[in-house]
Amino acid sequence: MSKVTEINHPLILHKLSILRSEKTGSKEFRKLVEEISMLMAYEVTRDLSMEEVEVKTPICTTKCKVLAGKKMAVVPILRAGLGMVDGVVNIIPAAKIGHIGLYRDEETLQPVEYFCKLPQDIAERDVLVVDPMLATGGSSIDAITMLKKRGAKSLKLMCLVGAPEGIEAVKEAHPDVDIFLASIDEKLNEHGYIVPGLGDAGDRLFGTK
Ligand code: PRP
Ligand code: URA
Repeated sequence: MSKVTEINHPLILHKLSILRSEKTGSKEFRKLVEEISMLMAYEVTRDLSMEEVEVKTPICTTKCKVLAGKKMAVVPILRAGLGMVDGVVNIIPAAKIGHIGLYRDEETLQPVEYFCKLPQDIAERDVLVVDPMLATGGSSIDAITMLKKRGAKSLKLMCLVGAPEGIEAVKEAHPDVDIFLASIDEKLNEHGYIVPGLGDAGDRLFGTK
């Protein structure tokens, strides 16, 4: 069964509070999404495997640890997931980046696919799917299904804010995928928005409303 981790770090919680405020404009919103994503990536990568190497310091030779594991891919769900990519690749610069385009139909709340471009060796990579919002879970479920159809086997999902309903739906659809969030919020409202949430993440990031 998926492990669900809410990362309760003071720096993340502080930045998330500013992000939620309706007074925060697009420029600051983008910076905060990037910063929170970088801080979360530190936690999400805690279990990466390591190997020992010998390093010669100016004083002596010593055994040190370096990353040993598979290579990583970061896959944002367009559009809003794009805001999280720079934060992650700041600390994992060797990661390749794939893109999945999905939007939520405003009436049915069902995700509609419009783009998919992934690193060609996606099957060999540890994949981190990023999207600020996990509401009904439909978009994340579809994105993970698209990745699995193209061979991805090792996947994690990282979101800023999630609703309990969406988290349960992802766990049920993809029990092999661990989920990381900065906050598990209260519920969804009648329009499928997360309460208290932060509004429409894509519009706030890109200033489209
Ligand atoms: C938002 C968000 C998620 C999705 C979450 O995207 O970024 O992808 O909604 O909702 P769900 O869990 O109910 O599927 P949106 O459809 O607004 O597209 P955008 O990022 O292009 O604005
Ligand atoms: N998508 C968003 O951007 N915000 C929500 O609260 C739900 C879906």
